[in-house]
Amino acid sequence: ATNQSWGGRFSEPTDAFVERFTASVSFDQRLARQDIQGSIAHATMLARVGVLSGDERDAIITGLDEIRDEIERGEFAWSVPLEDVHMNIEARLTEKIGVTGKKLHTGRSRNDQVATDIRLFLRDAADEIAAELVRLRQGLVELADREADTVMPGFTHLQTAQPVTFGHHLLAWQEMLARDHERLLDCRRRINVLPLGAAALAGTTYPVDRHLTAELLGFDRPAENSLDAVSDRDFAIEFIGFASMLLMHMSRMSEELVLWSSAQFDFIDLPDRFCTGSSIMPQKKNPDVPELVRGKSGRVYGHLMSLLTLMKSQPLAYNKDNQEDKEPLFDTVTTVLDCVKAFADMVPAIEPKKAHMFEAARQGFSTATDLADYLVRKGVAFRDAHDIVGQSVAYGLQQEKDLSEMTLEELRRFSGAIGEDVFEVLTLEGSVAARNHIGGTAPDQVRAAASRARAALAEL
Ligand code: ARG
Repeated sequence: ATNQSWGGRFSEPTDAFVERFTASVSFDQRLARQDIQGSIAHATMLARVGVLSGDERDAIITGLDEIRDEIERGEFAWSVPLEDVHMNIEARLTEKIGVTGKKLHTGRSRNDQVATDIRLFLRDAADEIAAELVRLRQGLVELADREADTVMPGFTHLQTAQPVTFGHHLLAWQEMLARDHERLLDCRRRINVLPLGAAALAGTTYPVDRHLTAELLGFDRPAENSLDAVSDRDFAIEFIGFASMLLMHMSRMSEELVLWSSAQFDFIDLPDRFCTGSSIMPQKKNPDVPELVRGKSGRVYGHLMSLLTLMKSQPLAYNKDNQEDKEPLFDTVTTVLDCVKAFADMVPAIEPKKAHMFEAARQGFSTATDLADYLVRKGVAFRDAHDIVGQSVAYGLQQEKDLSEMTLEELRRFSGAIGEDVFEVLTLEGSVAARNHIGGTAPDQVRAAASRARAALAEL
């Protein structure tokens, strides 16, 4: 038989392969809850404007509520010949309540219906992700506050550069996430617009009240233009853009966690519950969670490219191409939620190995800049000071001695401006404490930054 929803003008049934090829129910059933939510609002609006009677509205809503329960209990029989989530639910409604079920689609098309469903779905997802992001950011802020005094080497080019505090490093991560969080909230404003009422593309002849439908569904407003309403997927691309940036950041964090937990760095311990072992090497404890998060960035970047390419060159308004928007979008939501959850659980459990971090920071002449700054304070020009310290580093490499291990006499060979007070600036604690301005690595500044971040999070 031809599809009963649109088969009227057809003279032969759909080819069996084409039926399977064009069906989306295997994946778009993930929109079932939102599809029912949208249908209930649509029926409520139709009754308010007199297109449906109050009894018809009630029968439809009761039927849809029951269908939601059937789906949640896993008892709903999804049918591929019925093509997608929308027609599966509508057919079941008609099965349950009779001809009234066939009135639900009055003044509506699957084109404005699916666009509405995706927006509801993505709005829910955005809120869930935002909640997990808050948890992750809070974890970072608290750990940073606890580790405000912990000294570690800071790197450029992955070479020891200057000492920093571990808390400062963690708050750098927090800043990246704060920007991603802002991008998510900004994107949500463009998600939260109602397509229903646009119908197939041109609007509908029924006296629909789109403001009412928008209000019932918690949308900020109805979409301005019916053609745009059914064909716009910018909000989904933007969302995956946000997700790509977030996973790029989380992949950088992951990379550092992987390096730090190696025997060669040995800066942190990740609790066993976030790691796995090897089936052949009994000694192994692998940082799987950060490795997997680092790897998952790839699939999200791929989804971004998929959706951009999907939308490129599509003429207005709806095209079947758009059915391809769902799998990349769904997978992005699952991936991002899983990654942020994993990190939110793991971050508070990171155990810094403070003595190792400190020892590593003592190597590599990390206080060389401090010595140069000291000479400047004694009246030496910075370029000359740079050269003087460079010579003392060369001497230290030859003698296998850190600057702080040299005697005053040895240091004075390179500049007479060096005095007894030099040893205060050559210590790691002195070095970090001296960078005492907003945005600097001094422990006091880290504590102040943590409390500002804590306050910002409390305001969200
Ligand atoms: N399954 C379709 C999609 O995901 C629903 C809209 C179909 N509309 C249509 N006229 N074929 O985009």
